[in-house]
Amino acid sequence: METEIQLRNQIFQRLIDYQHQDENRLAFHLTPPIGLMNDPNGLVYYKGKYHVFYQWNPFDTNHTFKCWGHYSSSDFIHWEEHPPALVPSEWYEKDGCYSGSAIVHDSKLYLFYTGNVKTTDGGRETYQCLAVSDDGVHFEKKGPVIYLPKGFTPHFRDPKVWKQEDKWLMVIGAQTEELEGLTAVFSSNDLINWQWQGPLAGNGVSLSKYFGYMWECPDFFSLNGKDILIVSPQGLEAQPFQYENLYQSGYFIGEWDSKTNKYVHGTFHELDHGFDFYAPQTFEDPNGRRILLAWMGMGDEQEQTHQSIKSGWIHSLTIPRELTIKDGRLYQKPIEELKQLRNKARSEFFSIANEEKEVLFDSELQEIIIDIEQFEGNKWEIQIHNNCKLIFNRKDSIVTLERQSFNRSKLETRQCNVNKIDNIHMYLDRTSLEIFLNDGQIVFSSRFYEETAKKQCLISVKGKAKLRWKNWSLYSYQYKNDTLKKVVF
Ligand code: FRU
Repeated sequence: METEIQLRNQIFQRLIDYQHQDENRLAFHLTPPIGLMNDPNGLVYYKGKYHVFYQWNPFDTNHTFKCWGHYSSSDFIHWEEHPPALVPSEWYEKDGCYSGSAIVHDSKLYLFYTGNVKTTDGGRETYQCLAVSDDGVHFEKKGPVIYLPKGFTPHFRDPKVWKQEDKWLMVIGAQTEELEGLTAVFSSNDLINWQWQGPLAGNGVSLSKYFGYMWECPDFFSLNGKDILIVSPQGLEAQPFQYENLYQSGYFIGEWDSKTNKYVHGTFHELDHGFDFYAPQTFEDPNGRRILLAWMGMGDEQEQTHQSIKSGWIHSLTIPRELTIKDGRLYQKPIEELKQLRNKARSEFFSIANEEKEVLFDSELQEIIIDIEQFEGNKWEIQIHNNCKLIFNRKDSIVTLERQSFNRSKLETRQCNVNKIDNIHMYLDRTSLEIFLNDGQIVFSSRFYEETAKKQCLISVKGKAKLRWKNWSLYSYQYKNDTLKKVVF
Protein backbone atom coordinates (compact mmCIF):
# COMPACT_ATOMS: atom_id res chain seq x y z
CA MET A 1 0.00 0.00 0.00
CA GLU A 2 1.21 3.47 -0.83
CA THR A 3 1.75 6.01 1.92
CA GLU A 4 -0.13 9.30 1.98
CA ILE A 5 2.91 11.19 0.67
CA GLN A 6 3.46 8.70 -2.18
CA LEU A 7 -0.19 9.01 -3.24
CA ARG A 8 -0.05 12.81 -3.08
CA ASN A 9 3.12 12.74 -5.17
CA GLN A 10 1.45 10.59 -7.83
CA ILE A 11 -1.56 12.92 -7.93
CA PHE A 12 0.81 15.89 -8.24
CA GLN A 13 2.48 14.20 -11.26
CA ARG A 14 -0.93 13.81 -12.91
CA LEU A 15 -1.65 17.50 -12.41
CA ILE A 16 1.50 18.88 -13.98
CA ASP A 17 -0.03 19.55 -17.40
CA TYR A 18 -3.49 20.33 -16.12
CA GLN A 19 -5.32 23.27 -17.61
CA HIS A 20 -8.98 24.22 -17.63
CA GLN A 21 -9.15 24.84 -21.38
CA ASP A 22 -10.61 22.39 -23.88
CA GLU A 23 -13.64 22.65 -26.11
CA ASN A 24 -15.82 20.33 -24.04
CA ARG A 25 -14.85 21.59 -20.60
CA LEU A 26 -17.71 23.20 -18.70
CA ALA A 27 -17.17 26.84 -17.78
CA PHE A 28 -19.53 27.37 -14.83
CA HIS A 29 -19.77 23.90 -13.38
CA LEU A 30 -17.24 22.18 -11.13
CA THR A 31 -15.27 19.59 -13.11
CA PRO A 32 -12.29 17.46 -12.02
CA PRO A 33 -8.86 19.01 -12.74
CA ILE A 34 -8.08 15.71 -14.47
CA GLY A 35 -9.62 12.22 -14.27
CA LEU A 36 -13.10 11.35 -13.07
CA MET A 37 -15.48 13.19 -10.78
CA ASN A 38 -18.61 11.62 -9.32
CA ASP A 39 -20.62 12.37 -6.15
CA PRO A 40 -20.53 15.72 -4.35
CA ASN A 41 -19.34 15.08 -0.79
CA GLY A 42 -19.14 17.01 2.48
CA LEU A 43 -21.08 20.08 1.36
CA VAL A 44 -20.71 22.61 4.16
CA TYR A 45 -20.26 26.28 5.06
CA TYR A 46 -17.18 26.61 7.28
CA LYS A 47 -15.23 29.70 8.41
CA GLY A 48 -16.74 31.99 5.78
CA LYS A 49 -16.51 29.60 2.83
CA TYR A 50 -18.62 27.05 1.05
CA HIS A 51 -16.73 23.79 0.72
CA VAL A 52 -17.51 21.30 -2.02
CA PHE A 53 -15.67 18.00 -1.79
CA TYR A 54 -16.19 15.32 -4.43
CA GLN A 55 -15.39 11.75 -5.38
CA TRP A 56 -12.28 11.98 -7.51
CA ASN A 57 -10.18 9.52 -9.49
CA PRO A 58 -7.18 11.66 -10.54
CA PHE A 59 -5.48 8.72 -12.29
CA ASP A 60 -8.05 7.64 -14.84
CA THR A 61 -11.51 8.31 -16.28
CA ASN A 62 -13.00 5.23 -14.61
CA HIS A 63 -14.06 4.30 -11.06
CA THR A 64 -10.95 2.37 -9.98
CA PHE A 65 -9.48 4.81 -7.42
CA LYS A 66 -11.35 7.29 -5.23
CA CYS A 67 -10.13 10.15 -3.09
CA TRP A 68 -11.89 13.35 -1.95
CA GLY A 69 -11.22 16.30 -4.27
CA HIS A 70 -11.82 19.75 -2.79
CA TYR A 71 -13.06 23.16 -3.93
CA SER A 72 -14.03 26.16 -1.79
CA SER A 73 -15.66 29.49 -2.51
CA SER A 74 -17.19 32.44 -0.71
CA ASP A 75 -19.64 33.30 -3.52
CA PHE A 76 -20.14 30.14 -5.67
CA ILE A 77 -18.37 31.93 -8.58
CA HIS A 78 -14.72 32.30 -7.51
CA TRP A 79 -13.38 28.88 -6.63
CA GLU A 80 -10.21 27.83 -4.93
CA GLU A 81 -8.88 24.40 -5.89
CA HIS A 82 -7.30 22.56 -3.00
CA PRO A 83 -5.24 19.39 -2.94
CA PRO A 84 -7.30 16.28 -2.13
CA ALA A 85 -8.71 16.33 1.40
CA LEU A 86 -8.60 12.54 1.81
CA VAL A 87 -6.45 10.01 -0.04
CA PRO A 88 -6.84 6.25 0.61
CA SER A 89 -3.60 5.55 2.47
CA GLU A 90 -4.87 3.50 5.44
CA TRP A 91 -5.91 -0.16 5.70
CA TYR A 92 -9.57 0.70 6.41
CA GLU A 93 -9.96 2.72 3.19
CA LYS A 94 -7.37 1.07 0.95
CA ASP A 95 -9.76 0.76 -2.03
CA GLY A 96 -11.30 4.19 -1.80
CA CYS A 97 -12.34 7.06 0.44
CA TYR A 98 -15.98 6.80 -0.59
CA SER A 99 -18.80 9.32 -0.24
CA GLY A 100 -19.85 11.08 2.94
CA SER A 101 -20.69 14.37 4.58
CA ALA A 102 -19.37 17.23 6.73
CA ILE A 103 -20.50 19.02 9.88
CA VAL A 104 -19.03 21.87 11.92
CA HIS A 105 -18.57 21.46 15.68
CA ASP A 106 -16.53 23.62 18.12
CA SER A 107 -14.91 25.47 15.18
CA LYS A 108 -13.68 22.20 13.71
CA LEU A 109 -14.72 20.58 10.45
CA TYR A 110 -15.65 16.89 10.73
CA LEU A 111 -15.78 14.66 7.65
CA PHE A 112 -17.59 11.33 7.81
CA TYR A 113 -16.92 9.00 4.89
CA THR A 114 -16.88 5.34 3.93
CA GLY A 115 -13.62 3.43 3.89
CA ASN A 116 -13.96 0.88 1.11
CA VAL A 117 -11.84 -2.29 1.30
CA LYS A 118 -11.78 -5.04 -1.30
CA THR A 119 -10.77 -8.45 0.02
CA THR A 120 -8.65 -11.02 -1.84
CA ASP A 121 -11.64 -13.37 -2.24
CA GLY A 122 -13.55 -10.76 -4.28
CA GLY A 123 -15.62 -9.53 -1.32
CA ARG A 124 -15.59 -6.15 0.37
CA GLU A 125 -15.50 -4.53 3.79
CA THR A 126 -16.91 -1.17 4.78
CA TYR A 127 -15.95 1.22 7.57
CA GLN A 128 -17.59 4.53 8.40
CA CYS A 129 -14.66 6.80 9.16
CA LEU A 130 -13.95 10.23 10.63
CA ALA A 131 -11.39 12.92 9.72
CA VAL A 132 -11.13 16.29 11.52
CA SER A 133 -9.68 19.65 10.51
CA ASP A 134 -9.31 23.04 12.08
CA ASP A 135 -8.56 24.96 8.88
CA GLY A 136 -10.92 23.19 6.44
CA VAL A 137 -8.01 22.12 4.24
CA HIS A 138 -5.77 19.73 6.22
CA PHE A 139 -7.48 16.72 7.78
CA GLU A 140 -6.42 14.34 10.50
CA LYS A 141 -7.85 10.86 10.09
CA LYS A 142 -9.37 9.32 13.22
CA GLY A 143 -10.17 5.94 11.62
CA PRO A 144 -13.40 3.90 11.68
CA VAL A 145 -16.18 4.96 14.07
CA ILE A 146 -18.85 2.53 12.84
CA TYR A 147 -18.49 -1.12 11.82
CA LEU A 148 -20.96 -3.12 9.75
CA PRO A 149 -23.99 -4.08 11.90
CA LYS A 150 -25.72 -7.49 11.65
CA GLY A 151 -28.31 -8.01 8.93
CA PHE A 152 -26.55 -6.00 6.19
CA THR A 153 -24.18 -6.78 3.32
CA PRO A 154 -20.98 -4.67 3.01
CA HIS A 155 -22.89 -2.41 0.62
CA PHE A 156 -23.27 -0.09 3.57
CA ARG A 157 -21.99 3.42 2.93
CA ASP A 158 -22.29 7.19 2.37
CA PRO A 159 -22.88 8.54 5.95
CA LYS A 160 -24.79 11.83 6.18
CA VAL A 161 -24.62 13.51 9.62
CA TRP A 162 -26.80 16.23 11.13
CA LYS A 163 -27.65 17.67 14.56
CA GLN A 164 -31.06 17.09 16.13
CA GLU A 165 -31.58 19.03 19.36
CA ASP A 166 -28.56 18.01 21.48
CA LYS A 167 -27.71 14.82 19.58
CA TRP A 168 -25.80 13.91 16.43
CA LEU A 169 -27.52 11.62 13.99
CA MET A 170 -26.24 9.77 10.94
CA VAL A 171 -28.13 8.14 8.11
CA ILE A 172 -26.38 5.48 6.02
CA GLY A 173 -27.25 3.88 2.65
CA ALA A 174 -27.53 0.12 2.96
CA GLN A 175 -28.41 -3.26 1.51
CA THR A 176 -30.03 -5.90 3.71
CA GLU A 177 -28.95 -9.55 3.68
CA GLU A 178 -32.18 -10.12 1.70
CA LEU A 179 -30.62 -7.83 -0.97
CA GLU A 180 -32.98 -4.90 -0.55
CA GLY A 181 -32.20 -1.19 -0.24
CA LEU A 182 -32.65 0.50 3.15
CA THR A 183 -31.43 3.50 5.17
CA ALA A 184 -30.10 3.02 8.69
CA VAL A 185 -29.74 5.53 11.53
CA PHE A 186 -27.06 5.89 14.23
CA SER A 187 -26.82 8.50 17.01
CA SER A 188 -23.98 9.97 19.03
CA ASN A 189 -23.31 12.48 21.80
CA ASP A 190 -19.65 13.08 20.95
CA LEU A 191 -19.26 12.29 17.20
CA ILE A 192 -16.90 9.41 18.09
CA ASN A 193 -19.13 6.80 19.77
CA TRP A 194 -22.16 5.91 17.68
CA GLN A 195 -25.21 3.85 18.70
CA TRP A 196 -27.45 1.91 16.33
CA GLN A 197 -30.96 3.44 16.23
CA GLY A 198 -32.55 1.17 13.65
CA PRO A 199 -33.71 1.44 10.06
CA LEU A 200 -35.33 4.64 8.82
CA ALA A 201 -36.95 3.70 5.52
CA GLY A 202 -37.15 0.80 3.08
CA ASN A 203 -39.22 -2.29 2.39
CA GLY A 204 -40.68 -3.70 5.61
CA VAL A 205 -39.84 -0.47 7.47
CA SER A 206 -41.70 2.37 5.80
CA LEU A 207 -42.62 0.69 2.48
CA SER A 208 -44.55 -2.48 1.84
CA LYS A 209 -42.85 -3.69 -1.30
CA TYR A 210 -39.45 -4.16 -2.93
CA PHE A 211 -37.88 -0.85 -3.92
CA GLY A 212 -34.45 -1.63 -5.31
CA TYR A 213 -31.50 -3.76 -4.19
CA MET A 214 -29.37 -0.91 -2.76
CA TRP A 215 -29.96 2.67 -1.61
CA GLU A 216 -26.95 4.94 -2.01
CA CYS A 217 -26.19 8.45 -0.75
CA PRO A 218 -29.07 9.16 1.66
CA ASP A 219 -29.72 12.68 2.94
CA PHE A 220 -32.28 13.53 5.63
CA PHE A 221 -33.40 17.04 6.61
CA SER A 222 -36.39 19.20 7.54
CA LEU A 223 -37.82 21.80 5.22
CA ASN A 224 -40.95 23.85 5.94
CA GLY A 225 -41.89 21.51 8.80
CA LYS A 226 -41.58 18.35 6.66
CA ASP A 227 -38.97 15.61 6.96
CA ILE A 228 -37.39 14.79 3.65
CA LEU A 229 -35.34 11.74 2.77
CA ILE A 230 -33.35 11.97 -0.45
CA VAL A 231 -31.92 8.70 -1.63
CA SER A 232 -30.42 7.12 -4.76
CA PRO A 233 -31.97 3.66 -5.21
CA GLN A 234 -30.49 1.08 -7.56
CA GLY A 235 -32.54 -1.67 -9.17
CA LEU A 236 -35.84 0.08 -9.93
CA GLU A 237 -37.39 -1.14 -13.14
CA ALA A 238 -37.86 1.41 -15.91
CA GLN A 239 -41.48 2.38 -16.53
CA PRO A 240 -43.02 4.82 -18.98
CA PHE A 241 -42.14 8.34 -17.73
CA GLN A 242 -40.29 6.96 -14.69
CA TYR A 243 -36.95 5.47 -13.71
CA GLU A 244 -35.61 5.69 -17.25
CA ASN A 245 -31.93 5.95 -16.26
CA LEU A 246 -29.80 3.08 -14.99
CA TYR A 247 -30.01 4.43 -11.42
CA GLN A 248 -32.44 6.92 -9.84
CA SER A 249 -32.32 9.77 -7.35
CA GLY A 250 -35.40 11.05 -5.61
CA TYR A 251 -37.12 11.85 -2.35
CA PHE A 252 -39.82 10.99 0.14
CA ILE A 253 -41.68 13.70 2.08
CA GLY A 254 -43.08 12.79 5.49
CA GLU A 255 -43.01 13.10 9.25
CA TRP A 256 -40.32 11.61 11.44
CA ASP A 257 -40.62 11.00 15.16
CA SER A 258 -37.07 11.40 16.49
CA LYS A 259 -37.99 9.63 19.79
CA THR A 260 -39.20 6.42 18.14
CA ASN A 261 -37.27 6.80 14.84
CA LYS A 262 -40.55 6.15 13.00
CA TYR A 263 -40.77 7.79 9.59
CA VAL A 264 -44.11 7.94 7.79
CA HIS A 265 -43.80 9.24 4.25
CA GLY A 266 -45.48 9.56 0.88
CA THR A 267 -44.44 8.14 -2.48
CA PHE A 268 -41.03 8.43 -4.10
CA HIS A 269 -40.56 11.26 -6.61
CA GLU A 270 -37.59 11.58 -8.91
CA LEU A 271 -35.61 14.79 -8.48
CA ASP A 272 -34.57 15.09 -12.10
CA HIS A 273 -35.80 13.64 -15.38
CA GLY A 274 -32.67 14.20 -17.47
CA PHE A 275 -30.01 11.71 -18.56
CA ASP A 276 -27.27 12.77 -16.16
CA PHE A 277 -28.15 13.23 -12.52
CA TYR A 278 -27.20 11.07 -9.54
CA ALA A 279 -26.10 11.03 -5.88
CA PRO A 280 -27.36 14.51 -4.89
CA GLN A 281 -26.38 15.98 -1.53
CA THR A 282 -27.78 19.02 0.30
CA PHE A 283 -26.65 21.34 3.07
CA GLU A 284 -28.08 24.32 4.89
CA ASP A 285 -26.28 27.62 4.32
CA PRO A 286 -25.99 30.43 6.94
CA ASN A 287 -29.15 32.07 5.55
CA GLY A 288 -31.18 28.91 6.05
CA ARG A 289 -31.29 27.97 2.38
CA ARG A 290 -31.29 24.24 1.60
CA ILE A 291 -28.87 23.92 -1.32
CA LEU A 292 -28.47 20.82 -3.49
CA LEU A 293 -25.67 19.74 -5.80
CA ALA A 294 -25.56 16.45 -7.64
CA TRP A 295 -23.25 14.49 -9.87
CA MET A 296 -24.25 15.49 -13.43
CA GLY A 297 -23.33 12.06 -14.73
CA MET A 298 -24.40 8.45 -14.80
CA GLY A 299 -22.29 5.31 -14.51
CA ASP A 300 -24.13 3.55 -17.33
CA GLU A 301 -22.93 1.74 -20.45
CA GLN A 302 -22.47 5.08 -22.28
CA GLU A 303 -20.12 6.49 -19.66
CA GLN A 304 -16.93 5.54 -21.47
CA THR A 305 -18.11 7.20 -24.71
CA HIS A 306 -17.92 10.73 -23.25
CA GLN A 307 -15.79 12.71 -25.69
CA SER A 308 -14.03 14.57 -22.88
CA ILE A 309 -12.17 11.34 -22.06
CA LYS A 310 -9.84 12.20 -24.98
CA SER A 311 -8.81 15.24 -22.98
CA GLY A 312 -8.31 13.19 -19.83
CA TRP A 313 -11.35 14.12 -17.76
CA ILE A 314 -15.00 13.13 -17.32
CA HIS A 315 -18.11 14.42 -15.54
CA SER A 316 -19.08 17.45 -13.49
CA LEU A 317 -21.41 18.53 -10.73
CA THR A 318 -24.73 20.29 -11.41
CA ILE A 319 -25.17 23.98 -10.71
CA PRO A 320 -26.21 24.58 -7.07
CA ARG A 321 -30.00 24.66 -6.62
CA GLU A 322 -32.11 25.96 -3.76
CA LEU A 323 -34.86 23.59 -2.60
CA THR A 324 -38.36 24.61 -1.54
CA ILE A 325 -41.59 22.65 -1.02
CA LYS A 326 -44.73 23.44 -2.97
CA ASP A 327 -47.89 21.35 -3.32
CA GLY A 328 -46.22 18.33 -1.74
CA ARG A 329 -43.25 18.40 -4.14
CA LEU A 330 -39.66 19.59 -3.98
CA TYR A 331 -38.94 22.50 -6.32
CA GLN A 332 -35.39 23.33 -7.46
CA LYS A 333 -34.26 26.83 -8.34
CA PRO A 334 -30.76 27.85 -9.50
CA ILE A 335 -29.24 29.80 -6.58
CA GLU A 336 -29.33 33.61 -6.73
CA GLU A 337 -25.52 33.87 -6.84
CA LEU A 338 -25.50 32.54 -10.41
CA LYS A 339 -26.93 35.87 -11.58
CA GLN A 340 -23.40 37.22 -11.11
CA LEU A 341 -22.44 35.21 -14.20
CA ARG A 342 -24.74 37.26 -16.43
CA ASN A 343 -23.04 39.21 -19.18
CA LYS A 344 -24.76 40.56 -22.30
CA ALA A 345 -28.56 40.44 -22.10
CA ARG A 346 -31.16 40.33 -24.81
CA SER A 347 -34.92 40.24 -24.56
CA GLU A 348 -37.62 39.84 -27.15
CA PHE A 349 -41.28 39.18 -27.46
CA PHE A 350 -42.21 36.41 -29.89
CA SER A 351 -45.62 35.91 -31.34
CA ILE A 352 -45.37 32.65 -33.24
CA ALA A 353 -48.02 30.86 -35.33
CA ASN A 354 -47.20 27.56 -37.03
CA GLU A 355 -43.64 28.62 -37.71
CA GLU A 356 -40.05 28.45 -36.57
CA LYS A 357 -38.01 31.21 -34.92
CA GLU A 358 -34.25 31.18 -34.74
CA VAL A 359 -32.21 32.84 -32.00
CA LEU A 360 -28.47 32.96 -32.56
CA PHE A 361 -26.13 32.94 -29.58
CA ASP A 362 -22.81 34.73 -29.45
CA SER A 363 -21.49 32.31 -26.86
CA GLU A 364 -21.87 28.67 -25.85
CA LEU A 365 -22.52 29.77 -22.27
CA GLN A 366 -26.13 30.86 -21.96
CA GLU A 367 -28.87 31.44 -19.46
CA ILE A 368 -32.31 31.50 -21.09
CA ILE A 369 -35.68 32.35 -19.55
CA ILE A 370 -38.85 31.91 -21.56
CA ASP A 371 -42.22 32.93 -20.13
CA ILE A 372 -45.03 31.32 -22.07
CA GLU A 373 -47.75 33.95 -21.90
CA GLN A 374 -50.10 32.16 -24.23
CA PHE A 375 -50.16 28.83 -26.04
CA GLU A 376 -53.00 27.58 -28.18
CA GLY A 377 -52.04 24.48 -30.06
CA ASN A 378 -50.79 20.93 -29.77
CA LYS A 379 -47.06 21.09 -29.63
CA TRP A 380 -43.99 23.24 -29.28
CA GLU A 381 -40.33 22.36 -29.60
CA ILE A 382 -37.18 24.13 -28.50
CA GLN A 383 -33.97 22.91 -30.08
CA ILE A 384 -30.55 23.75 -28.68
CA HIS A 385 -27.69 23.78 -31.20
CA ASN A 386 -27.94 20.74 -33.48
CA ASN A 387 -28.62 18.42 -30.64
CA CYS A 388 -31.03 18.62 -27.68
CA LYS A 389 -34.73 19.19 -28.12
CA LEU A 390 -37.32 19.97 -25.46
CA ILE A 391 -40.74 18.96 -26.78
CA PHE A 392 -44.09 19.68 -25.14
CA ASN A 393 -47.03 17.67 -26.41
CA ARG A 394 -50.13 19.25 -24.92
CA LYS A 395 -52.68 16.66 -26.05
CA ASP A 396 -50.84 13.86 -24.20
CA SER A 397 -49.47 16.10 -21.40
CA ILE A 398 -45.93 14.88 -22.04
CA VAL A 399 -42.69 16.79 -21.95
CA THR A 400 -39.74 15.11 -23.66
CA LEU A 401 -36.03 15.81 -23.71
CA GLU A 402 -34.34 14.37 -26.78
CA ARG A 403 -30.59 14.23 -27.36
CA GLN A 404 -28.05 12.50 -29.57
CA SER A 405 -26.25 9.67 -27.76
CA PHE A 406 -22.65 10.60 -26.90
CA ASN A 407 -21.25 8.79 -29.95
CA ARG A 408 -24.11 10.27 -32.01
CA SER A 409 -25.31 6.84 -33.15
CA LYS A 410 -28.93 7.29 -31.98
CA LEU A 411 -31.53 9.66 -30.59
CA GLU A 412 -32.46 9.12 -26.95
CA THR A 413 -35.40 10.47 -24.97
CA ARG A 414 -36.43 11.06 -21.37
CA GLN A 415 -40.01 12.00 -20.56
CA CYS A 416 -42.43 12.97 -17.86
CA ASN A 417 -46.03 14.08 -17.51
CA VAL A 418 -47.09 17.69 -17.11
CA ASN A 419 -50.33 19.43 -18.08
CA LYS A 420 -49.07 22.92 -18.61
CA ILE A 421 -45.73 24.68 -18.94
CA ASP A 422 -45.69 28.36 -17.96
CA ASN A 423 -41.98 29.04 -17.90
CA ILE A 424 -38.65 27.54 -18.91
CA HIS A 425 -35.31 28.41 -17.33
CA MET A 426 -32.21 26.91 -18.97
CA TYR A 427 -28.48 26.91 -18.30
CA LEU A 428 -26.38 25.92 -21.27
CA ASP A 429 -22.68 25.36 -20.60
CA ARG A 430 -20.95 24.09 -23.77
CA THR A 431 -21.72 20.38 -23.29
CA SER A 432 -24.36 20.50 -20.57
CA LEU A 433 -27.95 21.62 -20.38
CA GLU A 434 -30.05 22.05 -17.24
CA ILE A 435 -33.72 22.84 -17.77
CA PHE A 436 -36.08 24.04 -15.01
CA LEU A 437 -39.78 24.06 -15.91
CA ASN A 438 -42.58 25.82 -14.03
CA ASP A 439 -40.29 27.55 -11.51
CA GLY A 440 -38.39 24.34 -10.80
CA GLN A 441 -41.27 21.86 -10.56
CA ILE A 442 -39.65 19.65 -13.24
CA VAL A 443 -35.92 19.50 -13.96
CA PHE A 444 -33.90 17.85 -16.75
CA SER A 445 -30.09 17.76 -16.40
CA SER A 446 -28.04 16.34 -19.24
CA ARG A 447 -24.71 16.31 -20.98
CA PHE A 448 -24.38 16.20 -24.77
CA TYR A 449 -21.68 16.45 -27.42
CA GLU A 450 -21.86 18.46 -30.63
CA GLU A 451 -20.23 17.62 -33.94
CA THR A 452 -20.25 21.17 -35.22
CA ALA A 453 -21.56 23.53 -32.61
CA LYS A 454 -24.08 25.80 -34.27
CA LYS A 455 -24.78 28.32 -31.55
CA GLN A 456 -28.48 28.67 -31.84
CA CYS A 457 -31.88 27.96 -30.44
CA LEU A 458 -34.80 27.06 -32.70
CA ILE A 459 -38.33 27.46 -31.43
CA SER A 460 -41.14 25.91 -33.42
CA VAL A 461 -44.82 25.96 -32.60
CA LYS A 462 -47.76 23.97 -33.96
CA GLY A 463 -50.52 26.44 -33.17
CA LYS A 464 -50.11 29.92 -31.68
CA ALA A 465 -47.80 31.08 -28.93
CA LYS A 466 -46.78 34.30 -27.25
CA LEU A 467 -43.40 34.06 -25.59
CA ARG A 468 -41.38 36.53 -23.56
CA TRP A 469 -37.77 35.60 -24.29
CA LYS A 470 -34.66 36.59 -22.35
CA ASN A 471 -31.12 35.34 -22.63
CA TRP A 472 -27.74 36.27 -21.26
CA SER A 473 -24.34 35.15 -22.44
CA LEU A 474 -22.53 34.09 -19.29
CA TYR A 475 -19.11 34.46 -17.73
CA SER A 476 -17.12 31.47 -16.52
CA TYR A 477 -16.29 30.51 -12.97
CA GLN A 478 -12.93 31.93 -11.84
CA TYR A 479 -10.34 29.56 -10.41
CA LYS A 480 -7.40 29.95 -8.11
CA ASN A 481 -5.16 26.92 -7.77
CA ASP A 482 -2.01 28.03 -5.97
CA THR A 483 -2.02 25.06 -3.62
CA LEU A 484 -3.52 22.41 -5.91
CA LYS A 485 -0.17 21.43 -7.36
CA LYS A 486 1.54 21.00 -4.02
CA VAL A 487 2.38 17.67 -2.44
CA VAL A 488 2.91 19.13 1.03
CA PHE A 489 0.68 22.14 1.42
C1 FRU B 1 -22.60 6.73 -5.75
C2 FRU B 1 -21.47 5.88 -5.16
C3 FRU B 1 -21.51 5.85 -3.63
C4 FRU B 1 -20.08 5.57 -3.28
C5 FRU B 1 -19.33 6.35 -4.34
C6 FRU B 1 -18.03 5.74 -4.78
O1 FRU B 1 -22.30 7.19 -7.02
O2 FRU B 1 -21.50 4.57 -5.69
O3 FRU B 1 -22.42 4.93 -3.09
O4 FRU B 1 -19.76 5.98 -1.99
O5 FRU B 1 -20.21 6.44 -5.45
O6 FRU B 1 -17.37 6.60 -5.65
